[in-house]
Amino acid sequence: MLRKITSVVAGLGMAALVLAFGGFGTAADDKKDDKTPTIKEIMAKGHKGTEAYMGKVKAAVKAEKWDDAQKYAKAMSVFGAALGKNKPKKGDADSWKTLSEKYAGDTKALFDATEKKDAKAANDALGTIGESCKACHTPHK
Ligand code: HEC
Repeated sequence: MLRKITSVVAGLGMAALVLAFGGFGTAADDKKDDKTPTIKEIMAKGHKGTEAYMGKVKAAVKAEKWDDAQKYAKAMSVFGAALGKNKPKKGDADSWKTLSEKYAGDTKALFDATEKKDAKAANDALGTIGESCKACHTPHK
C-alpha cells in the first residue's frame, strides 16, 4: 500500500516536472510568479526619503538627467501598477480600487513625461503624486 502511494506521488512529481519544464514555462509565466511587492515595500522604496525613487526622479528632472529620471520613474510606475494587487489593512475595497488606480495613473503619467523629456509635465505629475499621499493614507493606512 505504502509503496503504491509512493509511486503515485513520484508519478505526480514527474508530471509536475514535465509540465514545468516541458515548454509551458514562458516569460509571462515567470513574471506572474514574481512576488507582488507589498504596500510597505512600494511606499518605502517609492517615497521614503531622498534615496527613494520619487526623490531620485525629482533630482534627475531638475538636473535634466533624463536617463536617470526615466529609470526611476519607470520603477515607480511598475510599483504603481502593482499597488492595487495588494489589499490594505484598512478602508473599503471600492475606495482602495479608486485610489490605487489613481496612483497607477499618476506614476504612469510621470514616466510618460520623463520619456518625453518634458520637465513641466514631470513636475506636474510629481506634484500630483505628492498631493495624493494624505488622501490615501487617511482612509487606508
Ligand atoms: C493609493 C494609496 C496610497 C498613496 C497614494 C500613498 N500611500 Fe503611502 N501608504 C499607503 C498604505 C495603505 C500604507 C500602509 C502600509 C502598511 O502598513 O501595510 C502606506 C504607508 C506608507 C509609509 C510607511 C511605510 C512603512 O515602511 O511602513 C510611507 C513612508 C508612505 N506610505 C509614504 C507615502 C508618500 C510620501 C506618499 C505620497 C508621495 C504616499 N505614501 C502615497 C497607501 C498610499
